[in-house]
Amino acid sequence: MENSQLIEKLNNALTWELRAINLYAHYSAYVQGIHRLQLAGHFTAEVTESIGHANIVRSAIVKLGGEATTERNPHPIVHTTDYVEMLRQAYETEVMAGKVYGEILETLKNHNDDELYDAIESIYFAELRSVEEVRMLLN
Ligand SMILES: [Fe+2]
Repeated sequence: MENSQLIEKLNNALTWELRAINLYAHYSAYVQGIHRLQLAGHFTAEVTESIGHANIVRSAIVKLGGEATTERNPHPIVHTTDYVEMLRQAYETEVMAGKVYGEILETLKNHNDDELYDAIESIYFAELRSVEEVRMLLN
């Protein structure tokens, strides 16, 4: 696998993290009603987690000699004050992140870089845990 293809996939993951930062910051600001007590903090924690994931992915791109994107993924961020709709949008985002990192892991199996594999795998598992957590919140 050429580094350039791997860098492209990592940059795609980075666009999704940059989008997730915006999405969760937006929802943290707008969530209303009694659920604000729980969800404003939850969404803010997701911002922090996404910043952390973005940092790891960005560092990997730098290590591979690539240029890290500064653009967020263009997939629309739906504005709403309805917390259920926010959670639906969060669920979609986490599922997408899991898919993106799962594909990168497949690519990394042929890349012979245990450190990078481990870093991406830990993000992948975090995304899967988030999918399950949001699924439970929506039940
Ligand atoms: Fe993430």
